[in-house]
Amino acid sequence: MTESNHNLKIATRFRRLKKIDALRRLVQENTVSPSDFIWPIFVMDGKGETAEIPSMPGVVRYTIDLLPDVARRANRLGIPAVCVFPYTDPVLKTQTCEEAWNPNNLSNRAIKTIKDAVPDLAVMTDIALDPYNINGHDGIVRDGTIVNDETVQALVRMGRSQAEAGADILGPSDMMDGRIAALRQMLECDGFQDVSILSYAAKYASAFYGPFRDAVGASGALVGDKKTYQMNPANSDEALRIVQRDIEEGADMVMVKPGMAYLDVCQRVKSKFGAPTFAYQVSGEYAMIQAASQNGWLDADDVMFESLMSFKRAGCDGILTYFAPRAAELLG
Ligand code: PBG
Repeated sequence: MTESNHNLKIATRFRRLKKIDALRRLVQENTVSPSDFIWPIFVMDGKGETAEIPSMPGVVRYTIDLLPDVARRANRLGIPAVCVFPYTDPVLKTQTCEEAWNPNNLSNRAIKTIKDAVPDLAVMTDIALDPYNINGHDGIVRDGTIVNDETVQALVRMGRSQAEAGADILGPSDMMDGRIAALRQMLECDGFQDVSILSYAAKYASAFYGPFRDAVGASGALVGDKKTYQMNPANSDEALRIVQRDIEEGADMVMVKPGMAYLDVCQRVKSKFGAPTFAYQVSGEYAMIQAASQNGWLDADDVMFESLMSFKRAGCDGILTYFAPRAAELLG
């Protein structure tokens, strides 16, 4: 043995298990599969049409009659759930937001259409007043203030109409206090004991939502910002307290949103509570990756998989992502 290799710490050669693909796969700690995805779907009025969303290349809005095909595609790809977001006609937006609980609003028609076409596909909803609010806020605005308790009553009406339409998972994204308890009580009392709640618990006041507001036609509408109800990006202890409260109030699953800039929060939430935990890889995250790829600056598919894996590594059980159909197709 020569002097030089005697000094090598050969017990710690991490390269041994990287030598060939077989060994790398053998010791891989985390995986991504289509079963991890919830696919967000934008819906609009009309017939036989899709509309491109310029700030989200590759994502379109669908008219209701196209949803059976979309649902069958999700099912074929092994994606377990879709989440419906409506592009609401501006004339239906009011101060009081009653379109939110119209049994025949766009969102409720979409839920029914998808459940009729593919009963096995789970349908998730969004509960917040912003698509129906003349000022773009998630809650009812009185004298410049987003009023909590009156908003919660409206959200309960909205959630009931979604449960009646056949939704499997309600997704309150509004960040009002007390809405999980109120929704859970309504579900228990009105015969919807088996409808789940996926609480957007750790939802931050983020600049990453920009393209989504284009997609649902809310960007022009928003007056001011959402900082009096969405979380301060500087906080993570608060996220744990909100998650704890929402679980105690009856949430079955919780979400951290946005995703990539908040992986530390995902990890803290999962390790502290062990509840089913989801990250929302939001519109701005999707847009950044697509824009850079369109410029030839990075490879969209590679970055997509790397980012999806990061959520699994952080402990998430699943991911709401606009990449769902693309990733599932490549995984399939
Ligand atoms: C509405 C809602 C938003 C998103 C999901 N539900 C926007 C917001 O809070 O302003 C954002 C999703 C995304 O950016 O992809 N309450």
